[in-house]
Amino acid sequence: MKLVIILLLCHMLYCVDVDKNTFSNYKDVKTQHLHIEWLLNLNDKVVDGSVEYTLKVFANQLSEVHLDIYKMNILFIYYPSNGQVLKYHVESDPIQKDEQGDKLVIELGQVYKYGEIVKFRIKYQIGEDARALSFMDPSQTDDKKAPYLFSQCEANNCRSMIPLQDTPSIKFTYSATVITQSPLINVFMSGNRLQTQKFELMGNYEMNSIANIFQFELNIKIPAYLIAIVAGTVEERSTGARTAVISESKNIQKYKDELEDLDQYVQYLEDYIGEYKWGSYKIVILPASFPFGGMENPLLTFANPTIIVGDKSGVSVAVHEIAHSWFGNTITCNNWSNMWINEGFCVFLERKGLKTLFKDINLVHVNSQVGNNEMNALIKEFNSSQDDFVKSYASLHPKTENHNADDSFSTIPYERGFQLLYYLEKQINETRFQQLLKAWLQEYEYKSADESDFYRFMILWLKVQLSAEEFTTVKKSIDNVYTKWVYDYGQPPIQETFENPASKDVLQLVNAWIEGKGTKPQNYQIFDGFKSNQKQLFLSSLTEKSKDITEAIMVSLEDAYHLSDLRDAELLFRWYALSINTKYAKDTTNLQKIKAFVGVVGRMKMVNPIYKALNKETATQWYQENYAFYHPLTRQSIESIIKSKTIIE
Ligand SMILES: *[C@@H]1O[C@H](CO)[C@@H](O)[C@H](O)[C@H]1NC(C)=O
Ligand SMILES: *[C@@H]1O[C@H](CO)[C@@H](O)[C@H](O)[C@H]1NC(C)=O
Ligand SMILES: *[C@@H]1O[C@H](CO)[C@@H](O)[C@H](O)[C@H]1NC(C)=O
Ligand SMILES: [Zn+2]
Repeated sequence: MKLVIILLLCHMLYCVDVDKNTFSNYKDVKTQHLHIEWLLNLNDKVVDGSVEYTLKVFANQLSEVHLDIYKMNILFIYYPSNGQVLKYHVESDPIQKDEQGDKLVIELGQVYKYGEIVKFRIKYQIGEDARALSFMDPSQTDDKKAPYLFSQCEANNCRSMIPLQDTPSIKFTYSATVITQSPLINVFMSGNRLQTQKFELMGNYEMNSIANIFQFELNIKIPAYLIAIVAGTVEERSTGARTAVISESKNIQKYKDELEDLDQYVQYLEDYIGEYKWGSYKIVILPASFPFGGMENPLLTFANPTIIVGDKSGVSVAVHEIAHSWFGNTITCNNWSNMWINEGFCVFLERKGLKTLFKDINLVHVNSQVGNNEMNALIKEFNSSQDDFVKSYASLHPKTENHNADDSFSTIPYERGFQLLYYLEKQINETRFQQLLKAWLQEYEYKSADESDFYRFMILWLKVQLSAEEFTTVKKSIDNVYTKWVYDYGQPPIQETFENPASKDVLQLVNAWIEGKGTKPQNYQIFDGFKSNQKQLFLSSLTEKSKDITEAIMVSLEDAYHLSDLRDAELLFRWYALSINTKYAKDTTNLQKIKAFVGVVGRMKMVNPIYKALNKETATQWYQENYAFYHPLTRQSIESIIKSKTIIE
């Protein structure tokens, strides 16, 4: 008990280095509010920025503020109250510069005391070097009428669009004024949109043109990585009382039809976890170069068009992003080594929602199985690396210090984290675990936490709820695995297979295909009746056994199911990667289809396995041809895949 109190105090006073991926002195001074002003010049791919900071001092004496920046041009810094200009300099390490950016040191010109408020303003300019931002030409958009801009700040990319304390352990409110230079451009941010004004542009901008001023406000505290903007010829269509879809006009009706049940998805999650407190919920379907399936920007999820399949089979991504409203956006990991505090919990809640949506727990288990296959393949891959950092990515506590935190990103925090919670739920009992999660949310609402916060909270809560006898048994079953589950680099200590009736047919069919050596199994047509996630499991299980897949089997599979021509990108990318890995796709027409695919889909989950499968020469050539299409984050990850290929096969 004593130890617990000391640990808690220690945590409150930050006697440990909580986040090593920030250069800011965020323990001495904490952001309370940011007011952002951006003038968007999308034609020239430049944004003029000005940010007013409201910071609160937590040190006894404070004379400097250190902020994170990444490749931006700081113009000047001053006190808005009296116009006094502040001195600043940039501290930069040549290796860190590309990975994590630089430290902006601002001299306050006076000493502030504990509890005082510091307010200053920074004027700066950003452009295409801002790795959070994707500037697109009209030709790269669906509507082809105007340029387009969107941001992706997670993990440590917000520092490339705003100088700030770029750590998930600092939360603040924000407001913004965004001015566009074209009347066509509509703007949304991850906050509530207040009024919009039109005005006539003067000066050296486009002559006689009308522009817009947009104002936003978010009064719930969020970490830096949840600030987001999208600007383009986008419009909004309501899908219910509190939900809407936003996209360019070309496909908006299709998107709206696919996402017509959004209000219900919010409801399913509320039924399990409690009230949705953010107000409205909108999904932006971005251009295809968006590097992720979805990004949980508050009130304004960003999603990849690959989630729109036509049969609502991709909407689990939407359920996942809504689930982040609680896990990730309300309780946030304190640094990127603890990302499972966001993702593991989020997947857990997502699958509670999917249970209601699918009306069949077995189909939810199929998702867990697909995730499990992917997790196991990654654990093997990371385990075979010589690099200590890469090895650690197999755990729920990857090393991220001195690196771009994005390097550690994989499905591990999602699935390994989910499986830990699934195990805990079994030990604790379903109803009680639900109560525990609600209590956890209440205790850490709008705060940041790590795995020891969760452990401490859980044990104290259980101690109060359970009889002494029950408590001893449950605590023992938790203590047997918790540390290993979080920190070890191998498989989780308990291996769950999630076998169920809905996957039995799938796995039998996989085996029948392999045994048939190219002859179609008698019941091969049952594939057509499978749900989309069962088909994913089929392909992911074939991938697991790819050593046994001969060219004859591949030819026969294609003939039976026309897999190269499916519409669903979730299935296509698996089939394509398998086609390359088994040498089925060489210089046949199939390779052309795969090449076309990586030219129109920029989601990393889908293009990375294909680039991993290609030989160095082809990968380099395809990458160069599609360079302009890819998002900066996708470029970064493909480049590192290509770099790791030494042999030309
Ligand atoms: C993240 O925080 C944990 C404690 O919660 C600490 O052990 C770890 O070193 C930190 N990692 C980074 C990269 O800051
Ligand atoms: C689970 O816990 C709840 C109380 O939270 C209790 O009512 C219920 O009987 C328990 N279920 C089982 C199977 O032990
Ligand atoms: C990881 O590699 C070690 C040998 O380096 C091996 O003993 C261990 O079984 C591997 N673990 C997994 C999960 O692959
Ligand atoms: Zn997520």
